[in-house]
Amino acid sequence: MNEASRKAHTIAVTSGKGGVGKTFLSANIAAALARAGRRVLVIDADLGLANLDIILNLQPKSTLHDVLNGVVELEDVILTAPCGFSVLPAGSGIAEYARLSGELRERMRMLLDRLGSRYDCLLIDTGAGITDLVQYAASLADELVVVTTPEPTALADAYATIKVLSADCHRSRVHLVINQVRRPGEGVTLTKQLQQVVDRFLTSAEAPPPQLGFLGEIPHDADVPAAVRSRRLLLESSPGSPVSLAITGIAGRLSRQLLASAA
Ligand SMILES: Nc1ncnc2c1ncn2[C@@H]1O[C@H](COP(=O)(O)OP(=O)(O)OP(=O)(O)O)[C@@H](O)[C@H]1O
Ligand SMILES: [Mg+2]
Repeated sequence: MNEASRKAHTIAVTSGKGGVGKTFLSANIAAALARAGRRVLVIDADLGLANLDIILNLQPKSTLHDVLNGVVELEDVILTAPCGFSVLPAGSGIAEYARLSGELRERMRMLLDRLGSRYDCLLIDTGAGITDLVQYAASLADELVVVTTPEPTALADAYATIKVLSADCHRSRVHLVINQVRRPGEGVTLTKQLQQVVDRFLTSAEAPPPQLGFLGEIPHDADVPAAVRSRRLLLESSPGSPVSLAITGIAGRLSRQLLASAA
């Protein structure tokens, strides 16, 4: 396969409930993949309410919004984050992405195609909920990672997200990360319970229920808000912490599963 035709694995990181850790995880998973030698781009797809540049302490002069409007070139927008991965920042305070026009969808799709030839992995950090933009971003991705916390409300919203997004694209597998667990093993238990609900209610004559691939659990840790406040990657500031080790494990499993499905 030559350089131009090589295609990156595209992964959408999403959630039902907001504030469960998608942006924090996207950035740190990207750091772990970059450390393992992969060329990674994180795309902030929370267009309108962008956060990725803030937690990475980047100061974008222009954004994905400007690229989509044809005001700047893609090359002039991509920034390099600590740990060596690339970032395509979004833009804040823009309301026009609530409903996506056909033209905007086409521009987004073409943009991903262009980026796909330059990286090994595109991580799309979406907003929360089942919006037009989230649904479209998920439809463009090869794989879906749903993030939830153990809270019943977050789990209920994760189920709703899995239901809608897996049906949209006839997905047979959805990856799951349980963030902010309070005791070891909680993530495995909750994934099994969620799978039982999925098996019971998302079975149809056309397709079997999606399989939830448990990527890992991440402990609740006060160091995380501290790292976010100081705008540093946890993988850089505390590489040996339990949260960093959990994220490195998740990045490794994700990487291996992508390679296995591509083989
Ligand atoms: N493992 C953790 N332990 C403790 N706090 C955490 C953990 N993971 C995330 N957080 C906290 O949750 C906050 C929200 O995280 P983040 O912004 O990544 O969520 P999000 O899902 O991207 O939110 P949004 O839906 O608004 O995009 C972080 O600022 C951090 O303080
Ligand atoms: Mg976010």
